[in-house]
Amino acid sequence: MIRKASISDIKIIHSGLTHFSSKGLLLSRSLSELYDQIRDFAVNEEEDGTISGFVALHIVWDDLAEIRSLAVMDRFQKKGIGRNLVQHCISEAITLGLYRIFTLTYQQVFFQKLGFLLIDKSKLPHKVWADCVKCPKFPDCDESCLILEL
Ligand SMILES: CC(C)(COP(=O)(O)OP(=O)(O)OC[C@H]1O[C@@H](n2cnc3c(N)ncnc32)[C@H](O)[C@@H]1OP(=O)(O)O)[C@@H](O)C(=O)NCCC(=O)NCCS
Repeated sequence: MIRKASISDIKIIHSGLTHFSSKGLLLSRSLSELYDQIRDFAVNEEEDGTISGFVALHIVWDDLAEIRSLAVMDRFQKKGIGRNLVQHCISEAITLGLYRIFTLTYQQVFFQKLGFLLIDKSKLPHKVWADCVKCPKFPDCDESCLILEL
């Protein structure tokens, strides 16, 4: 079941982000950032209460949102949870009246399977780079930028 994240989910989200950032797959986020942005997050909760995945939809501008911090815990991967989390973000974006969703990722094929198209990062508004300066790789970003027009 996908539901909005609550405060009690923050530590598991933090530990998941730390795990995948140590593999170079995601940008880690501090607990402070996560408390600031908890309303952006949704989690996938298993019947026994285990959090098997999470994602954030972050509003950037009047028609643009970003999917960020998407992760499915290792033992739950390849079961459709990642797809469902992205679809949850798409539904939320439509409800909010947002018409474009982008992501910066190493998982290009996963997002292409969900209808996202590659674009040149320079086409994104400058506001996007406010978070990028926190990335250890900045300014040598090697992630792909993909966008979905709703
Ligand atoms: C990328 C990730 C979120 C995918 O989640 P998942 O639950 O395993 O993916 P799903 O089972 O929903 O897969 C949906 C489709 O994408 C494919 N897919 C999944 N991961 C893929 C990958 N890394 N590369 C290519 N295709 C992939 C699946 O085979 C499936 O294809 P199908 O519809 O043809 O069967 C997950 O592997 C993950 O958390 N990785 C580590 C963190 C990360 O890289 N996050 C992305 C940051 S933006």
